[in-house]
Amino acid sequence: MNSQATLTIRRPDDWHVHLRDGAMLAAVAPYTARQFARAIVMPNLTPPITTVAAATAYRERILAVSGAGFEPLMTCYLTDDADPAEIVGGFEAGVFTACKLYPAHATTNSAHGVTEVANIRPVLAAMERAGMVLCVHGEVTDPAVDVFDREAEFLDRVLAPLLREFPALKVVLEHITTAEAAAFVAEGPPTLAATITPQHLHLNRNALFAGGLRPHHYCLPVLKRERHRLAVRAAAVGGSGKFFLGTDSAPHRVGDKESGCGCAGVWNAPFALESYAAVFEEEGALERLEGFASEHGARFYGLGLNEGTVTLRREVVEVPERVGDVVPFHAGERLGWRVAG
Ligand code: NCD
Ligand code: ZN
Repeated sequence: MNSQATLTIRRPDDWHVHLRDGAMLAAVAPYTARQFARAIVMPNLTPPITTVAAATAYRERILAVSGAGFEPLMTCYLTDDADPAEIVGGFEAGVFTACKLYPAHATTNSAHGVTEVANIRPVLAAMERAGMVLCVHGEVTDPAVDVFDREAEFLDRVLAPLLREFPALKVVLEHITTAEAAAFVAEGPPTLAATITPQHLHLNRNALFAGGLRPHHYCLPVLKRERHRLAVRAAAVGGSGKFFLGTDSAPHRVGDKESGCGCAGVWNAPFALESYAAVFEEEGALERLEGFASEHGARFYGLGLNEGTVTLRREVVEVPERVGDVVPFHAGERLGWRVAG
């Protein structure tokens, strides 16, 4: 195995993160800003971010706590009555970078989500014309579909028709978890890409039940079988520009996770890059981490590459059991790399 002591890469971006608001925002945003130059910020606040004014104000609240040198890229939460003029106007004014499609009730704070893609046809057509990216939570919400099959079902039922109807619309299938999704994206048009989280690279669904119920490993889309984890890993480390880093870091207070009805979400921001580096190293693909973390996403979005660099040092890092009121991903474990500085 390669035993280099440091790895320096172009400063990376996180193409999918939940920064929350208020005290939680202040607690978590600095961890993302420490590692990433830019991040696509999810709009699933209560109420969700649906207007240019709300996104502008939220961006200010993020910048107030993130420190200098971090650029939050704002997203608009799509609802059934989303207004194409508001959205494309916000994109052209430089406020919105992308829109987020949550199928209604698919996940945390998605009650206002889209009930039928048909309802947002005018918005998708306007985004397609403007060159604005659509980020998709790719799970059907039909209660008759098994939770573990909801992503694969979404590909045929929703995503394939959407791509056919809007062939020039740039679509990111977020946090892919299955072999079916990895193949669908790899074989799909150049307008289709996917983000991949650290937890879906490290864990399969057995982790949810290892010695007892493990709420801190519960996220959506839920962890899948080992064969899916391996397929998602192969996609991440394979070098294709269609796959890039999106942590889906999603903090919830410990009491909201360790509960009779625990919230979905893994908070991986504190050691995100270290976590991805472990995977790329295990796969013998450390030289491809830079493309995945720092190049593919920016190219897909049509944004410039970052100028600075970050250096990872080979060093044992003990991940704490708790950071404030939140349990981080890899709590109590050791990682083999540390982001310097
Ligand atoms: C996210 C959250 O908590 O906001 N949770 C999660 O499990 N990923 C919502 C989401 O992205 O699905
Ligand atoms: Zn998310």
